[in-house]
Amino acid sequence: MALLIAARTRADLFAAAARKLDPTLDLRIAPDLGRAEEIDTTLAWQPPPGLLKTIPKLELIISVGAGVDALLGDPTLPDLPLVRYVDPDLTGRMVEYVTLHVLYHHRRMTEFGELQSRREWNYLAEPAAHEIRVGLMGLGVMGLASIAPLKLLGYKLRGWSRTPKTIEGVDCYCGEAGLEAFLADTDILACVLPLTPETRGILNRGLIRKLSRQGRDERLPGPVLINAGRGGLQIDADVLGALEAGELYAASLDVFETEPLPVASPLWSHPRVVITPHNAAESAPLSIMRYALHQRRRHLDGLPLENVVDRQRGY
Ligand code: NDP
Ligand code: OXD
Repeated sequence: MALLIAARTRADLFAAAARKLDPTLDLRIAPDLGRAEEIDTTLAWQPPPGLLKTIPKLELIISVGAGVDALLGDPTLPDLPLVRYVDPDLTGRMVEYVTLHVLYHHRRMTEFGELQSRREWNYLAEPAAHEIRVGLMGLGVMGLASIAPLKLLGYKLRGWSRTPKTIEGVDCYCGEAGLEAFLADTDILACVLPLTPETRGILNRGLIRKLSRQGRDERLPGPVLINAGRGGLQIDADVLGALEAGELYAASLDVFETEPLPVASPLWSHPRVVITPHNAAESAPLSIMRYALHQRRRHLDGLPLENVVDRQRGY
């Protein structure tokens, strides 16, 4: 019985954490599978396409990430239970990211940064939190956990999901039918959607134009986009075009279709864009390994797995 780490990045860190947690574990690190027929479980992050199907007795696939779009995008992915990473450590990090970037743009920090670079002591009008409507796109683990701190700060909250929800203190919208009303009621859009065939390219110019423009003088200079979901959700050129046209005031982008974001991308140097290197919520090695060993133990003991991906739905 062996566990395989098949991760494009940080495999050594995951392996070190695994050895710390269980020194007796039979651990393999791709591409060195050893006797492949001994491997029952893999912890995977963007493994080479086709690799997992070569493991004859594989029983369980555990995703290093909460998002499983890359794994599901491999047509050769074996039809085995696939569990995604859900853990308070990961969720807490995302909540920090969402709250930080909502506050950052609400308090016009990109503009204060520019003023500072010119040594200019200037006042900019800022609305109070209770005058701003934050729209959470995605009301799953990440979206739901982000509600409490935003509520505490006083923001008006809206949320959008695939299926209907009732959440105290949040105006909830769902599905295609609810999208337009949700956007029209949102000043700062924070996206924590998974990437699926339905959501690909959803953050486009048309969507941005539907964000609230009402009250932009009293509230913000314009709507804000925060994307911590997946790069495939957003059309980079549309985000840039909307910024240039003043349809968008500012953006925080953590994820991109091509990662790392190419040096030639004009997004890097846009004064109202904050770029982070897909680190909104990092899967910390000890936490993800603890989770993987827990899930594997449950599987070996015949207990139901947690956070199993619905492949039909795509998340
Ligand atoms: P969940 O599966 O718990 O939640 C997904 C949410 O998106 C649900 O509310 C779901 O609706 C909604 N949703 C899915 N498809 C649609 C659709 N077509 N229309 C409307 N709503 C939809 O995922 P998590 O909250 O755990 O994670 C979300 C994503 O965040 C991950 O898939 C990953 O891509 C990203 N992520 C990014 C990280 C980073 O560092 N940048 C780190 C961790 C995660 P419903 O509730 O109705 O099912
Ligand atoms: C995730 C990620 O999906 O790190 O967890 O992007």
